[in-house]
Amino acid sequence: MNRCPLKLACLLALLLTSSLGGCAAAPMLIGHRGAPGYRPEHTLASYALAIEQGADFIEPDLVITRDGVLVCRHENEISGTTDVARRPEFASRKTTKTIDGTPVTGWFTEDFFLAELKTLRATERIPKVRPDNVQYNGQFEVPTLGEVISLVRSSEARTGRTIGLYPETKHPTYFRGIGLPLEERLVYLLTASGYSGRNAPIFIQSFEVSNLRHLRTLTDLPLVQLLGYGGQPYDFTVASDPRTYADLVTPAGLKFISTYADVAGANKLHIIPCDASGKLMAPTSFVADARAAGLRVHLWTLRADNSFLPADYKNNALGEFRAYLSTGVDGFFTDQPDLGRAAAGLPPMHPSR
Ligand code: G3P
Ligand code: CA
Repeated sequence: MNRCPLKLACLLALLLTSSLGGCAAAPMLIGHRGAPGYRPEHTLASYALAIEQGADFIEPDLVITRDGVLVCRHENEISGTTDVARRPEFASRKTTKTIDGTPVTGWFTEDFFLAELKTLRATERIPKVRPDNVQYNGQFEVPTLGEVISLVRSSEARTGRTIGLYPETKHPTYFRGIGLPLEERLVYLLTASGYSGRNAPIFIQSFEVSNLRHLRTLTDLPLVQLLGYGGQPYDFTVASDPRTYADLVTPAGLKFISTYADVAGANKLHIIPCDASGKLMAPTSFVADARAAGLRVHLWTLRADNSFLPADYKNNALGEFRAYLSTGVDGFFTDQPDLGRAAAGLPPMHPSR
């Protein structure tokens, strides 16, 4: 008699489980450099817009100042994203350095105190591709990581959402070589800001390997091995390690990555490559291989501008975004978080007060 209710409960549980199993969770949306499709990259305005458009995480790339402050730029050479070249007071700072094995001429964050860097203003990196962003030239400062964390906290308080942080260490071997290592400062600031544990809303990423392995000794926060399409990690070059990114994306390479990282951050071409005419081909086994190695997969970077789209998806960014998301990745970077949200099948995010 009393076994019937138990059977009924089991049946209901089974039905519930199978119906939930049919609804895959939306992949995590990472505002790549903020929302640079609409605002100059790596500005508080760009990060804030990404949050307003529904990004789950915002991504600051990190370099460092002469006085050891982590600031948000994609490169330490800043003439492409600030007005430094038009500032006569800094004309004498122009120089040529070798960065990751390549000669680079310009102005470098490590030659500026933070107070000096703060007098500069951000400019649009690719004005021909994003002419609408030029109107914002001269309006925004180069933010510090601390300021981005403050933006995250105030946005969380205002929206009631958890906003994740996805910092990337740029040129880590180079910065350690000039006596300005990034890793200890980063972990110190994140710890002081309350980030702790494997489930914290943060991922620390790098294209290099040895600094991620060093970070693993400093913190248990989630780590992401970025995987370029071609070439090799610069620290491998320095160490005469012959392995390339092509080696790291093999099942054996992914297993190696899983010994220190949680996520494979893949160039999208590792997941769906293009043929010789620039059209998308069939997906590779990358997502399954990474999962088999115990890694999650985050893909970079979905961009709606025609110049970044495959030949068969010009003027059809949503189609390209959906093709990549259909591979089942756990997260993706995009320059246009509103389109990313639409591609993931989510309704537009309504601006908060
Ligand atoms: O960090 C993911 C993606 O941003 C890597 O490319 O060059 O835009 O930093 P990049
Ligand atoms: Ca990045």
